[in-house]
Amino acid sequence: MRKKVDFLVIGSGIAGLIFALKVAPKGKVCIITKSNAEETATKYAQGGIAAVMYTPDTYEKHIKDTIIAGDNLNKEDIVRITITESTDRVKELIEWGASFDKKESGKYDLAKEGGHSEHRVLHYKDSTGMEIERTLLSRISEHPNIEVLENHFTLDIITQHHMDMDIDINRRTDNISCYGAYVLNPQTDEIHTILARTTLIATGGAGNVYNTTTNPVIATGDGIAMAYRAKALVENMEFIQFHPTSLYHPDEKPSFLITEALRGFGAILKTKNGEEFMHRYDKRGSLAPRDIVARAIDNEMKLSGDDYVGLDCRHLNENDLIKHFPRIYAKCLSIGIDISKEMIPVVPAAHYVCGGIKVDEYSRTSIFNLYASGECASTGLHGANRLASNSLLESAVFSHRASIDAIRKIEDIDYCETIPDWNAEGMVLNEEMILITQSLKELQMIMTNYVGIVRSNLRLKRALDRLEIIYRETEDLYNKSILTSIICELRNLINVAYLIIKMAMQRKESRGLHYSIDYPKTGDDIILNTDYYKETMADKKSPLPEA
Ligand code: FAD
Ligand code: SIN
Repeated sequence: MRKKVDFLVIGSGIAGLIFALKVAPKGKVCIITKSNAEETATKYAQGGIAAVMYTPDTYEKHIKDTIIAGDNLNKEDIVRITITESTDRVKELIEWGASFDKKESGKYDLAKEGGHSEHRVLHYKDSTGMEIERTLLSRISEHPNIEVLENHFTLDIITQHHMDMDIDINRRTDNISCYGAYVLNPQTDEIHTILARTTLIATGGAGNVYNTTTNPVIATGDGIAMAYRAKALVENMEFIQFHPTSLYHPDEKPSFLITEALRGFGAILKTKNGEEFMHRYDKRGSLAPRDIVARAIDNEMKLSGDDYVGLDCRHLNENDLIKHFPRIYAKCLSIGIDISKEMIPVVPAAHYVCGGIKVDEYSRTSIFNLYASGECASTGLHGANRLASNSLLESAVFSHRASIDAIRKIEDIDYCETIPDWNAEGMVLNEEMILITQSLKELQMIMTNYVGIVRSNLRLKRALDRLEIIYRETEDLYNKSILTSIICELRNLINVAYLIIKMAMQRKESRGLHYSIDYPKTGDDIILNTDYYKETMADKKSPLPEA
């Protein structure tokens, strides 16, 4: 099947849906989504969306918090754009029908999360993402110009050329244009050619490159891998955020998230024996930025040999706890833990990719007519570590900005009619599923063991050596098999793993989420003696003026 649309949107999370809604009045939109439309990371977001709503909060305070959390690697102009546009984007979500919790006074009940100096996180109980996804999908379903192709898998974007993995990660891309995408319908094994004047990649994150992740199974880095194969610039992939508190419940995949908002509500991290430990690492205690908390938990677990630490809610008012966190309460109860009476066992889990496809202030990639937004994109907002609840916001701001630029240009872009269809000649049915699932497990173990919260040159080298074997085996399989989404996802995850490792090798310092024992920060060299972080990020001066 060949199809022509004005706007092709790959992904049905917050980033894809907002862009689609905004461009739909100007042309025909097709949204491709590889599962059912609501199965996205967006749907699982708990804590909420950060925005400056009322005094005493100010844009300057939110900007400063974002840059401190990002270890000063953020692009300041992008941070300013995002934060100063936060209020408008949140109001727009509310106008579309999203409901956020309010106080009796009628004002929004703003929560506080790690690294935030003010209460500024809008939320709908502990199911904010579900509320946002519901709202957007209902608007999408009403729009006559938008078609949603569910259970369709995008294989590659269409450009002049593709290339293999063994290339320079800092390469330049000149004069490449995007003409749409090749899309697999796994029900019929057909590969469609979808020609588009403008394409947006909004494929979300890549948490499944690790064996413990909060991300749903759809998060396999497909968009980042396909953009990279098409020679788009990709950056900052070494900054993988591990959420400090996922529920310790071995064998459950994905790991259930225990929102940081619970710590904002007063819950305290303790060892299994009930001792508080965070104040030994950072004066902000349990609410320090995520990179610090995740490393501290990792260290405590290594010191004690325990499989998890505890999150203590027992001192909190039981009724309030259940009212604000009904999903977490019910989930824990379902596995026999009453959080008002027992500590919640928690461990860090891979949660968010701070880097991704490099984009500018209008979410334009380095390829013409190709935009990227949401978790797959790297705007420069997060720097070396994302501030909690800034990612739903980033998606809203940059999908809006991408839509402005795309609408401005659409009339001047022609279709490329000469694009050939996908050539699947000579491919055979791959009956060796076991090889794919085994390679996936190996990949996840390599990344977890050698490219996790604490890294070293030796570990990274070992990871790359092991990865190369799986890469060659998988490319061989890919080149002769009738394509399935499973083999393509494995290939994409390998591609993403390669980018993480290579960029981690290039960074000869410890910064934000990238912590290497070979390049300790001043005071960090005692990490293994429990007393690390003599000089914490909290002690550093912000580059910004006081609000
Ligand atoms: P997603 O919402 O993940 O959507 C990706 C879409 O792309 C899906 O529709 C998927 O099917 C589609 N797709 C992927 N590959 C392909 C392909 N090859 N072909 C076709 N379709 C494809 N952030 C916050 O700001 N606040 C929070 O409270 C918060 N809580 C979180 C809790 C959890 C458990 C998780 C996992 C994340 C949380 N985050 C939170 C992060 C945030 O939810 C995500 O970063 C954000 O939702 C990403 O949105 P997105 O639109 O980029 O991608
Ligand atoms: C959480 O609720 O803790 C997740 C928030 C986020 O990832 O931004």
